[in-house]
Amino acid sequence: MAKTATIIATLLLNVSFSVAQLNTLAQAAGKLYFGTATDNPELTDLPYVAQLENTADFHQLTPANSMKWDATEPTRGVFTFAGGDQIVAQAQANGQIMRGHNCVWHNQLPDWVEAGDFDNATLLSIIENHCGTLVGHYAGQMYLAESQKDAWDVINEPFNDDGTFAQDVFFNTTGTSYIPTALRAARAADPNAKLYINDFNIEGTGAKSTGMANLVKQLKAEGVPIDGIGIQSHLIVGEVPTTLQQNIQDFVDLGVEVAITELDIRMTLPYTPILAAQQTEDYRTVISACKAVAGCIGVTVWDWTDKFSWVPGTFAGQGAACPWDVNLDKKPAYEGIVEGWLS
Ligand SMILES: *[C@@H]1O[C@H](CO)[C@@H](O)[C@H](O)[C@H]1NC(C)=O
Ligand SMILES: *[C@@H]1O[C@H](CO)[C@@H](O)[C@H](O)[C@H]1NC(C)=O
Repeated sequence: MAKTATIIATLLLNVSFSVAQLNTLAQAAGKLYFGTATDNPELTDLPYVAQLENTADFHQLTPANSMKWDATEPTRGVFTFAGGDQIVAQAQANGQIMRGHNCVWHNQLPDWVEAGDFDNATLLSIIENHCGTLVGHYAGQMYLAESQKDAWDVINEPFNDDGTFAQDVFFNTTGTSYIPTALRAARAADPNAKLYINDFNIEGTGAKSTGMANLVKQLKAEGVPIDGIGIQSHLIVGEVPTTLQQNIQDFVDLGVEVAITELDIRMTLPYTPILAAQQTEDYRTVISACKAVAGCIGVTVWDWTDKFSWVPGTFAGQGAACPWDVNLDKKPAYEGIVEGWLS
């Protein structure tokens, strides 16, 4: 009897494991998608692509690099969309939706923008042309269903950690005028797109989140189109802010939607069972926070496998941040995401 019960329990576990996948669970929880970042060079890795196309796990893709300014307008007025188009085609072939990423960011910016010494009016016209042309090129191509509009990170990382504006070429030249200029250009180019401002270190409440909230309030008061806040969520194991769910709710209460746009949870290597258990718990916490707030519309991981994670190349000695390992095998973190959606 005990043995039969064990066999049945094992069968049930296997069954629930095979159906309980990241996107199917996200949608069952009322979200639009669970998704992942990807990048053009990764599309030559066939086992990687096979899992990328697993729509039970991923219903949404974000291009990690190929829609950024240096990739799309490397020379003033000369637009190159081949890389972004490849990711869109990859998504469309599998019925996956996209998030556009991004129009205006002070990194991966071609030299001609930063070194051009443009005056305010000229830089604003360059931003208007860049965002309008980029968003216009992809209008209607990225969300496939009428009910799911295109979404764009129009503004990326505008804040310092203390909530003041980053002193980049855009702010130094235009003040905050670049923000409404970019948002209005995106709205004109794709009236159906959901327009986001996306940043990191705005997971918990604090000065930077307050800066974001104040900006969104001001934009709304001025009639500037703004639909969403992207909470990047590049987190550290054991350091998920306890105020995450409250902060998501606070953003939603401003009258915008929220997406978790770049989730990964890194650690100082080596990857140990204790760190794996904490990481599993941390993924569960993040997902359950999104699940609990109706206006949190979806979650994107910043690539699904440690094989292609940006973390080791950026944070020396750190890594193992993704739900799948370098061999494309699921880690306990995967189960943390499952548990978060079921919480
Ligand atoms: C913007 O101005 C600040 C303060 O003068 C300066 O430190 C910073 O280097 C400037 N940024 C750029 C991109 O020019
Ligand atoms: C840049 O131009 C805009 C639009 O004319 C104006 O509102 C803004 O104050 C200007 N910014 C600076 C720093 O002069």
